[in-house]
Amino acid sequence: MAFGVSTVCLADALRSIAGPKARLITFDPTQRLTDSWNSAGLWQVERAGLSSVVELRHETSQRGLPKLVDSGYRCQLGFIDGWHTFDHTLIDFFYIDQMLDVGGHIVFDDTLYPSIHRVVRFVLANRNYELAGIEHVDHYTRPLLRAKRMGKRLLHRLARTNLDPSEAHAAIFRQIESAQMVGVRKVSDDDRRFDHFAAF
Ligand SMILES: C[S@@+](CC[C@H](N)C(=O)[O-])C[C@H]1O[C@@H](n2cnc3c(N)ncnc32)[C@H](O)[C@@H]1O
Repeated sequence: MAFGVSTVCLADALRSIAGPKARLITFDPTQRLTDSWNSAGLWQVERAGLSSVVELRHETSQRGLPKLVDSGYRCQLGFIDGWHTFDHTLIDFFYIDQMLDVGGHIVFDDTLYPSIHRVVRFVLANRNYELAGIEHVDHYTRPLLRAKRMGKRLLHRLARTNLDPSEAHAAIFRQIESAQMVGVRKVSDDDRRFDHFAAF
């Protein structure tokens, strides 16, 4: 939740779509702590008149999401912007997916972080999700990132292994190379074999 920027935007959009039924559950283990966010996000939510839409759970998403799954909760949108390591982000995805209706979306923020970028690549290569929206970095940074990744790709060509992504997946990955936020849409429930793996 932090300063509540995305919470206010999401809650406002949800309320205009779903009216009084709109509900946004957020996780933030330090939102209320005075030596951390000191309730700044909650205050913004209140100031925007959105307190009835937003429910803050004062715990990590990794602990809170499995409880929501157990309670039978269903959702149509997930926004992941918490602890930015690969494993924490993947765990957030894993549990949100279990509650997400087919056709629903998950948005990953800060996809320039290698950790989060890799999670998005994992999802697009291994799960029944399709690319739904991309927010690119600004006009000036984009060519620099492109050039850096192109250089890496050329070098990588010299040392291909069978752990490289398929051509189809590589083409999708190129679209998110300079993305700072990526939205994916759930196409269908998980139907993989128990040992499925696609390189990402
Ligand atoms: C990058 S900020 C989020 C910014 C927010 N989306 C916005 O637009 O204002 C990350 C937030 O995640 C919270 N956080 C850190 N670790 C977390 C965890 N394990 N589970 C859930 N939230 C966590 C932090 O306290 C912080 O509020």
